[in-house]
Amino acid sequence: MKDYFGYQGKVCVVTGAASGMGKATAEMLVDLGAKVYALDWNTVEVDGITEFISVDLSNKDSIDQAFTKIPEHIDSFFGIAGVSGIKTDFNKTVTIDLIANKYICETYLTNRMTSGGAIAFITSTGGNNWEKEGNKKEYLPIVEATGWDAMIRALEQLNLNHLPGPLGYMFAKMAMNYYTAVLQPVFASKHIRVNAVLPGSTETGMKDEFSIAAGGDDKLIAAAGFASRLAESREMAEPVVFLNSNMASFISGELLIADYGCTIMTTSGFQQDPMGSVTFDIIKQNFKG
Ligand SMILES: NC(=O)c1ccc[n+]([C@@H]2O[C@H](COP(=O)([O-])OP(=O)(O)OC[C@H]3O[C@@H](n4cnc5c(N)ncnc54)[C@H](O)[C@@H]3O)[C@@H](O)[C@H]2O)c1
Repeated sequence: MKDYFGYQGKVCVVTGAASGMGKATAEMLVDLGAKVYALDWNTVEVDGITEFISVDLSNKDSIDQAFTKIPEHIDSFFGIAGVSGIKTDFNKTVTIDLIANKYICETYLTNRMTSGGAIAFITSTGGNNWEKEGNKKEYLPIVEATGWDAMIRALEQLNLNHLPGPLGYMFAKMAMNYYTAVLQPVFASKHIRVNAVLPGSTETGMKDEFSIAAGGDDKLIAAAGFASRLAESREMAEPVVFLNSNMASFISGELLIADYGCTIMTTSGFQQDPMGSVTFDIIKQNFKG
């Protein structure tokens, strides 16, 4: 049988592999014959992975330590780990959801991936409208900073830590969508593809936190539109595994929205986007703690 996906024997690094979409991705990659290096701060229990590597993605030294355990040459990177911001403050949320991914790309992937490699992030439809000026000008100082210390300094100088953690989630996911574009000249020019999947609400370890933020399970399911249900983790692992596979060899710079038609209903104007005209600069100005 032909190996259409081309993962056989490939070194794949998956962050967030202990739960939800990251775990489903690691399982699928094992089935496809990849050598899976599974990173998380919780123990990864997936049969057949090559190695579980404990890491705290909010900590530079921990990331550096983790990458000493990963082979020098990486074929495929899956940046999936993240927090919702319900249990973490604004700055920690941004550090995990944005700065860690950016630090890994700059410090390790630029040197350890070669032509034919592929990078895919799981961002979010919570980062829709990332291209609007009122959003972009807010996250640009971090995207434009280079190196862990400079990014943390840029984040602290924004002085946003009084805002709720879930706003940090939105901020980080918008920045990650934009960052997928920033990475095209860096990686796609070397024939290393970079893409992202933007999930709608999905039944994972994070679901209960999103449910609290939405005001209950009913509201979360109502927001899932025509699907009338939340997605399963597997349904997000499938597109991300596809994007990093040989099946997507001419796809780079794609923000693949996996929300069963919710976003297109608002961008087309068929439905109203509750966040359509509310950009981060306005939210920030109007926030009363
Ligand atoms: N569940 C949803 O509805 C939804 C929707 C859109 C986007 N997302 C995104 O999907 C991605 C995967 O999340 P999920 O929904 O599968 O949730 P999950 O909680 O099941 O999985 C997230 C994983 O990331 C790990 N993690 C978090 N912080 C970490 C840190 N500092 N260091 C190491 N590991 C850390 C967790 O331990 C966990 O295993 C996240 O980036 C999330 O923002 C989720």
